[in-house]
Amino acid sequence: MRYVSSKDLQPGMVISSNLYDNNEKILLKANTQLTEYFINRISKLQFDGVYIFEKDDVAKARQIVSDETRMKAINKLKRLDINACIFLANDIVNEIRSSKSLIIEQMSLSSYDSYTYVHSVNVDVLSVIIGIGMGLRNEELEKLSQAALLHDIGKCDVPLEIVNKPAKLTSEEYEEMKKHPEYGLKRLRDGRSQGTEEIHAVVKNAVYSHHENWNGTGYPRGLKGEAIHLFARIIHVADVYDALTAKRAYKDASNPSDAIEYLMANSGSMFDIDVVNTFIKYLAPYPIGCDVLLSTGQQGTVIENNEKYLSRPKIKLTSGVIIDMMKKLNVTILKILN
Ligand SMILES: [Fe+2]
Repeated sequence: MRYVSSKDLQPGMVISSNLYDNNEKILLKANTQLTEYFINRISKLQFDGVYIFEKDDVAKARQIVSDETRMKAINKLKRLDINACIFLANDIVNEIRSSKSLIIEQMSLSSYDSYTYVHSVNVDVLSVIIGIGMGLRNEELEKLSQAALLHDIGKCDVPLEIVNKPAKLTSEEYEEMKKHPEYGLKRLRDGRSQGTEEIHAVVKNAVYSHHENWNGTGYPRGLKGEAIHLFARIIHVADVYDALTAKRAYKDASNPSDAIEYLMANSGSMFDIDVVNTFIKYLAPYPIGCDVLLSTGQQGTVIENNEKYLSRPKIKLTSGVIIDMMKKLNVTILKILN
C-alpha cells in the first residue's frame, strides 16, 4: 500500500484501512473504492491522506502494524495530541509483539506530503523492532515507542516552508531545522500545563538526543557513545534508514540493500554498532516484489525471503522458473533493478 495525500486521491483508488473520525466512528471501511463524493468528504474532514492499495501489493507487504493503527497515529500527530500518541505508541508495541514475523519487507511507505507524520510512524515501528531484537522489556519498549513516535514533534515549531521545502536546505535553514530536538523537548515539558500527562524523563531525553552521533559529531549536545541514551541511538538508526529509503521531491529513494550498506559503513562513527547489527537481522535487503539481476545474467522478481538468510531469497525468473537461492549457492544477486 501507499500513503496518498488527500489532494492526490483519484476515484477508483481503494483504501486499505478503516477511516475513523475524531470520535472513533467509522467513516469509511477498508476496501472501499473511492468516488468523487468520498474524496471530497475526506478532504473536508481534513484528513491529510489515506493508505491505498496498489496493484498486486496486497500479498506483497507483510503487515507488521496495520494501516488502521498507522492512520490513527498520523492523525494524532498532526493534531499534536500527545496523550493520544502515548497510548497509540503502546498499541504499536502490542501489535508488533503479536506479529508472526518481524522481517521488514517493505520498500518504502513514505510520500512527499505529510512526510513528517508518515516518517514518524515508520521510525516508531522500526525502533520497536530493534528494541525487541536488543532484548528490551515491555515497559522499556513502550517508552522507546513513545519517544520514536514523538521524535520529530519539535518540527511543528520550525517554519513550515523549511520543514516542507522540496529541495535541499540552505545552511541558515538547516541551522533552524537543527533546533527541532530542543523544540520537541520543550513541547513535551510544556505539555503538562496543557493537560498532557507527565511524560517519562527517558522519553524526553531520547527525543532531545535522536540526532547525536556515536562519535560526538551530532547535535544538539555533541554527546558521545553510551552517554547518548540507548533509545536515542536506536531512533537515530531507524530515522536515517527511513529517510534514505523515502522518495522525496529532491531525491530518489535508496533501495534497502544500499541503505543497509550505508548503515554498516557509518556504524562506529554515526551509529552504535550493536544497534546497526541488530537492525540488519530484520531488514530484507531484497524485499518481496523487487526485481533483481543475478550473477548468471538472468533477471527475476523476489517472491519469498528466507528469514535466516535474508540475502538468499526465492526468485521467479522472467522465464517463469522459480529458483531458491539457498539451493543454488553459486548464484548471487548483483543488484536491484527497480
Ligand atoms: Fe529529527
